Formats: sequence, structure tokens, C-alpha cells
Amino acid sequence: MAAPRIAFVLGTRPEIIKLSPLIRACDDRDVPYVVVHTGQHYSDSLDTVFFEQLELPTPTHNLEVGSDDHGAQTAEMIRGIESILTETRPDHVIVHGDTNSALAGAIAASKLEPSLAHIEAGLRSFDRSMPEEINRVLADHVSNYRFAPTDESARLLAAEGIDDERVVVTGNTIVDAVSQHRDLATRKSTVLEDRDLESGEFYLLTAHRAENVDDPDRFTGILAGVGEFADRTDREVVYPIHPRARENLEELGRSVPDPIRLVPPLDFLDFLTLEDHARLAITDSGGVQEETCILGTPCLTVRDNTERPETIDIGANRLVGTDRTAIVEGAEAMVDRDGAWPNPFGDGTAADRILETLL
Ligand code: UD1
Ligand code: UDP
Repeated sequence: MAAPRIAFVLGTRPEIIKLSPLIRACDDRDVPYVVVHTGQHYSDSLDTVFFEQLELPTPTHNLEVGSDDHGAQTAEMIRGIESILTETRPDHVIVHGDTNSALAGAIAASKLEPSLAHIEAGLRSFDRSMPEEINRVLADHVSNYRFAPTDESARLLAAEGIDDERVVVTGNTIVDAVSQHRDLATRKSTVLEDRDLESGEFYLLTAHRAENVDDPDRFTGILAGVGEFADRTDREVVYPIHPRARENLEELGRSVPDPIRLVPPLDFLDFLTLEDHARLAITDSGGVQEETCILGTPCLTVRDNTERPETIDIGANRLVGTDRTAIVEGAEAMVDRDGAWPNPFGDGTAADRILETLL
């Protein structure tokens, strides 16, 4: 078999979604590729459901590493990826974002022949206590190509001494993914009816980050603040809960405040529909900050920092941390905001631009 031009390394829900436009672009242009799935995410609701709904090919390889401590998990991925890259000899390896899967792909590829491309390069929270910040800094510094979503992320790379013709500002592939699926979601998703939700009359919550849900005080602060705001405004909150958060909640032995309705993680079309129709989104997710900004839904970020400052600058998002009162005040300030801000993440052609540069 001829060597593939590209090897995609991915392992988690956001990587599957944000790499889907690129995989599709390869199919459209008959570019041979392999998909190496690390197995970091393996539950159907975080993994298979997206391959099926986004009509992506089954990964060529699945390392099935599962969950573990950072070192053990990343090490097992590096070993598996190295062996696959040595065998398949692609021209380019593509990693995305800031997960342990992205770091493992970057480390393995950077010591082998293929060129390494990092997508979503140049994002910085400047918070080295977050594993994601370590992962994205390291991936950027060992890459040959860095595809930055915005001018600001290219500027941050330059500030770290990475300033050459292989830093390319492309926009974020999430704009491609949203524009490819928004209409489909409107036509196909029945989540509003199924969950008995009225457009503009509910809030959407996601919280899954280690620094929030592994810390009982922070997690409790988020639930209390969101619950209080929902009570005051007499609206319900839908919380599609990530397994990490669900496990921590069970360990805490607490129920969530009354207005918060827990539902299992949703597929992409249902989730996009909820983001589109929510009155306000409250989140610690990177992807949700971007998507709500693109869709014109106001967002409140329950973190102390964000690597998506563009969303704050244009008034689509506000940082409030995890203190109960700060969440209530922030939600009051954001809830009626008109979502007519410009989209800072590009025009939905990021995948084409990336592929054109590489090929
Ligand atoms: C990972 C990423 C995070 C990203 C998130 C996307 C890292 C360091 N973190 O966090 O940046 O925002 O994915 O969702 O890479 N679990 C399951 N089923 C699964 C996967 C995980 O039940 O398919 C549970 C396990 O109990 C596991 C826990 O979730 O221990 C955490 O999983 P892990 O992959 O370590 O990190 P995420 O929190 O998913
Ligand atoms: N998402 C989804 N179903 C859900 C929650 C999120 O399809 O129940 C999608 C969401 O649209 C976004 C991505 O998952 O594209 C964000 O992933 P996550 O919040 O897990 O990770 P992060 O972006 O914070 O790394």
C-alpha cells in the first residue's frame, strides 16, 4: 500500500469534532490518510456517536489506552503512535489542540521523519497548573507547521520566538464544523421537543475541567451559582454531564440544585441545537466558548482564565470564576445580551487552507 500523505492523531470528543472538516476535505480531494485513535475517550457518548453522526471513517488504528494518570496514559500513547508512524510513514502528522492525545502525537512525530502540524496553535491561558496549557505549549514548540485560528494566537506564538512562514492564520476548524452541521441540526434534531424545552427559555451548562469538577469547592460553587440564577429567573438548566463530572458528583454524594436537569452527554446535532436555542450558556469548555460565540448565544465562563480572549473582547463571553455570587452577577449581566457580535474565528474555510498549505 502507498504511504498515506497524512496521519491524523486524535483521541477525545473535541478532537473528533474539530478534525472532522479536515478528514472530509481529504476525502473530497482523494488525499490518502490514516486515522490513529488513541482511545483516550472510549465511552460511546464521547466517541463512537461522533464518528457515526459526522459520517467519519472508522479509525484505521485504535490504541485503546483508556483512562490513566497523565504520565502512564501519555507514555502508552507515544509508544503506540511511534510504532504506527514507523510502519505507515506518512508525509504529515496532524494533531489538534491541547489534550494528552495531541501531546503524545506531537512527541512521537517530532522524533520521526514526517512533518508535524499543530492545529489550534498559539492558544494560551498562561496557567501552567492546567495540563492543557503544558500540552499546547509543548505541541507548538515541536511542530513544523502551526495553524493559528486568529491573529492574536499567531502573535502569542511570535512572542515565544516562533515567528516564521509556517505559522499560518487559518481561522478555527470549529467554524467549518458548525457551518457544515447547523442546518442539518435544525432539520434533524428533535432535542427541544424530546426534552420539552422552549427556545430562549432555558440555560445550558457544561462543566468538566479537572480544575473545576475534581475540586469539591469549585464544583459546588458552580452548581450553587447556576442553580440560584436559574431559580431567580424561573428558568431551567440543562447539564449534559461529562463522565468525569458525573463520577465526582457521585463521590460528593450530593444532588444538584432543583432547576438543574442532568442529561447524558449529547451527540453533536443535539448539542449544537441546545447551544443555538439556549438563553445563556455557562461553561468551562473551550469548544463551547467558541461555538456559542459563533452562534450568537451569550456565554459565561466558569474559569479564572481563558485561552479564547477573542470571545471576551467582542462581548460574547465573560469570565466569572466559580464563586456563587460572581456567577449570579455575571449571568445577570450576560443573559439579555444581543448576540450580534462578529465571529472572530474565521470564515469556515480553515480545513481547506490547512490542507492547501500542507499539500
Ligand atoms: C480530556 C482533556 C480535556 C478535554 C476533554 C474533552 C486532557 C488532559 N484532558 O479531559 O482537555 O477538554 O478531554 O472532553 O487530555 N471517562 C469515561 N469515558 C471516557 C473517557 C473518560 O468515563 O470515554 C472518565 C474516566 O473516569 C476518566 C475521566 O473521565 O478517568 C477523565 O478522562 P480523561 O480522558 O483523563 O480526561 P477528560 O476529563 O475527558
Ligand atoms: N459537545 C457535544 N455534546 C455534549 C457536550 C459537548 O457534542 O454533550 C461538543 C461541543 O459541541 C464541542 C465539544 O463537544 O464541539 C467540546 O468538547 P469538550 O467540552 O468536552 O472539550 P473542550 O472543548 O473543553 O476541550
